[in-house]
Amino acid sequence: MSRLKAEHLYKVFGRRPEAAVRRLEDGASRDELRADGTTAAVIDASFEVEAGQIFVVMGLSGSGKSTLLRMLNGLLEPTSGSVLYDGRDLTGLSPAELRDVRSHNISMVFQHFALFPHRSVLENAAYGLEVRGVPRAERLERAAEALELAGLKGWESSWPDELSGGMQQRVGLARALATDADLLLMDESFSALDPLIRRDMQDQLLDLQKRLKKTIVFITHDLNEAMRLGDRIAVMRDGRIVQNGTAEDILVRPANDYVASFIQDVDRSRVLTAGSIMAEQAAGAAPVAVPDGTTTVSAETPVAELFSPFSRSDSPVAVTDESGEVTGVVTRDGLLAALADQPDAEEQDADQPEEVPAPLVPASEPEVITHA
Ligand SMILES: Nc1ncnc2c1ncn2[C@@H]1O[C@H](COP(=O)(O)OP(=O)(O)OP(=O)(O)O)[C@@H](O)[C@H]1O
Ligand SMILES: [Mg+2]
Repeated sequence: MSRLKAEHLYKVFGRRPEAAVRRLEDGASRDELRADGTTAAVIDASFEVEAGQIFVVMGLSGSGKSTLLRMLNGLLEPTSGSVLYDGRDLTGLSPAELRDVRSHNISMVFQHFALFPHRSVLENAAYGLEVRGVPRAERLERAAEALELAGLKGWESSWPDELSGGMQQRVGLARALATDADLLLMDESFSALDPLIRRDMQDQLLDLQKRLKKTIVFITHDLNEAMRLGDRIAVMRDGRIVQNGTAEDILVRPANDYVASFIQDVDRSRVLTAGSIMAEQAAGAAPVAVPDGTTTVSAETPVAELFSPFSRSDSPVAVTDESGEVTGVVTRDGLLAALADQPDAEEQDADQPEEVPAPLVPASEPEVITHA
């Protein structure tokens, strides 16, 4: 069973939202509804997130990412559809039951979250536990552990204004980690950070994830960030999920021109793997003997790591499985072709109008947390 499952989720803002959902089901477009002053923020979103996965939702400003995320923890009630957490339908819970799930199982990390200026870093990290009524000694102990996980050991008694933006963001992460919630919902959590610090935070999150195995839904505008972090990536456009796949699926098989237009700026060499670009051994063929000195890599090796062997020699690189058997080879020409290969627009869905995404505008409005 998946940890989190969204089934045909809709969220419509404005008058007569249920009627708007029926119109959408009958094929009305988002623009038609907008003409009536109704905003279809999320339209028919379905997906599953397995325990321990990082599921990234990527899309432009206004595509419905935050609205979707808020339905996942019950901050917003779906107009239609359901959210299942460990098989339990959140939409069917009483307010008290929902509060209980929210306070024990789900934690949210925002882009702009407020640290209390007159409380120490430790007390700030303990805030989520304080709200939950955890006794002081216990919450400070758990907050200290979470700060250590977030790389802030030694800063416990500092004041927030003594910390850089990146470090403050880590306090937000620590606050979520301290609660022990399994499901972390992260809305543009790194978007306000400088590029280098942002990369650092991405590394830290991946590193934490290896140890803690949380289930994470991570929202971003940035496809490179999505591809670095996501076990799966859902691309949203105008309220709909237009593709849901691995980084490699999106890079190699974009669902339409819209998705394809995003991938031009992606560093293909970090997403493609040796296994995805190799020429495979024919099934049933006799095992291949690899000449001495041949470089061997695993199928998961990023293509970026093949540059070095090819800079030393023109010989193909062998791709081997766990038992050391050769499953395919990558040639220098094969590598170059894979890196040059832009998806062919002709092969894409011809019904999709040619469209280039607008510039990515980071959300500037502060997050307001409303407690139900
Ligand atoms: N409370 C609300 N009332 C009315 N419309 C809303 C409300 N919240 C969101 N919307 C609208 O729903 C659409 C989706 O908004 P949402 O905030 O989910 O997008 P987003 O993808 O998170 O954008 P951003 O990247 O800018 O944060 C937008 O058109 C927005 O104006
Ligand atoms: Mg948003």
